[in-house]
Amino acid sequence: MPLAQARKGEIVTAAASDRSSRLRIDYRNATAAGVGDEHGLTDSALDSVADVVRRNHQRITREHDAGEQRWIDLPDDTMLADEITSFASEVKGRYRDYILIGIGGSSLGAIATIQALAHPSRNLLPADRRDGPRFFVLDNPDPEKVRATLDLVDLPHTLINVVTKSGQTAETMANFLVARAALIEAVGMEQAARQIVATTDPTEGLLRQLAGQEGYRTFPVPPGVDGRQTVLSAVGMIPAALCGIDIHAMLRGAAAMRARCQTAELLQNPAYLLAALSVLADQRLGKRILVMMPYADALYGLADWFRQLWAESLGKRLSTGGDEVFAGQTPIKALGAIDQHSQIQLYTEGPNDKLIVLIGVDAYRANVPVGDPPAAIADLAYLRGAELGQLIDRERAATAWALKQARRPNITITAPTIDAFTLGEFFFLHQLQTVMAGALYGVDPFGQPGVEAGKNATYALMGRAGYEELKAELTAPAANAASAVVAPA
Ligand code: PA5
Repeated sequence: MPLAQARKGEIVTAAASDRSSRLRIDYRNATAAGVGDEHGLTDSALDSVADVVRRNHQRITREHDAGEQRWIDLPDDTMLADEITSFASEVKGRYRDYILIGIGGSSLGAIATIQALAHPSRNLLPADRRDGPRFFVLDNPDPEKVRATLDLVDLPHTLINVVTKSGQTAETMANFLVARAALIEAVGMEQAARQIVATTDPTEGLLRQLAGQEGYRTFPVPPGVDGRQTVLSAVGMIPAALCGIDIHAMLRGAAAMRARCQTAELLQNPAYLLAALSVLADQRLGKRILVMMPYADALYGLADWFRQLWAESLGKRLSTGGDEVFAGQTPIKALGAIDQHSQIQLYTEGPNDKLIVLIGVDAYRANVPVGDPPAAIADLAYLRGAELGQLIDRERAATAWALKQARRPNITITAPTIDAFTLGEFFFLHQLQTVMAGALYGVDPFGQPGVEAGKNATYALMGRAGYEELKAELTAPAANAASAVVAPA
């Protein structure tokens, strides 16, 4: 259906060919017509930002033409995707295990991708049904998890992929040094270097330096792109390819979404529409929380990835003009139908401070008919002939309706199915949504100055050279320690 013929409040894609974007967005339950004026957005509220969106669309295009906004180009790097695909086929048979070491933007995209597209219990499958090594992630420097992982893997047959854009993140470098030492102990220095692949800045940083010294194979994190925008670069593509995922299809999906988002017209551009709905709901209706709730276990990682993207990009103290604005909307991840039995009570009857984005799937990848209930249990007869995909999807529809009845604004994004193409669409959609949301909040969505204070304090507390003054400040006895700390005598 052409966009122009879409019903108000619903975007329908043009054609369902493999090369067009197929995600649908239904925001009728976020409008005043759906949930009332107090909690829903009116046409005039949306109209009021249409020009701002147009202007910012032109600005983003100009910046992109001038060599900024480099994340927009990632779907075009098919040469890198070819290189990664052949790297993956070269090493797949050689390794039983693969450890990704990275944190935040350097791991969340890969986790989301593999959760969405690989078998849900991939590591438990026999090697001949797995298409690639078992996949482990060391993100948190949690000694228990790191120890358990290193105890489990077969180090002589393990590929270690350390991923850090800055090349110096404390958690990543510490986890890497632990794994590197274990690998050297298992196979010796020379062989260890062959089993390490570094994904990092092409020229800068400590990891780049170390990779040069020890001779690791390296892949670039594209300059001018924040970590949370790197899922479609080597950062996300190497783990995906090693787990047998069609990375070219992911890039095609992202490119298809980019093509669909060429328009500056708010109601026809799904990314801009989602940005406007979210920011307006926050600023005008007090919806300070944005919940992303997929009705598919496979998409829970996507919600986690989005949580970082939304929080780190938009949670900003200063506007682009330098005023204190304390912008941002708190992202929450939830999972349908599980969180109907955990969170929905709060969402339906608690504070009306949320915009809830449900994600539905037209065709799940498995068809699981419910077994016939015993005739004697009449109250289970409604499940006769049912199928699990139908049940979970009806639960999503029921939740959208129940939220609407309680005047809780909600949006449903529907994917035709979960595949590499569709996931690429989601990634591009939410990245552009976030950039436009930054414009509507009047903040710079790039950079994360609020994270630096904690990072520097960690360096100081760990004794990094150059941070001595901060260490002295941090370790000086606090004046109120006695009165504000409760500890056993
Ligand atoms: O989005 C970002 O830039 C951050 O979340 C980073 O991804 C995260 O801090 C990890 O940084 P790095 O890749 O430099 O280790």
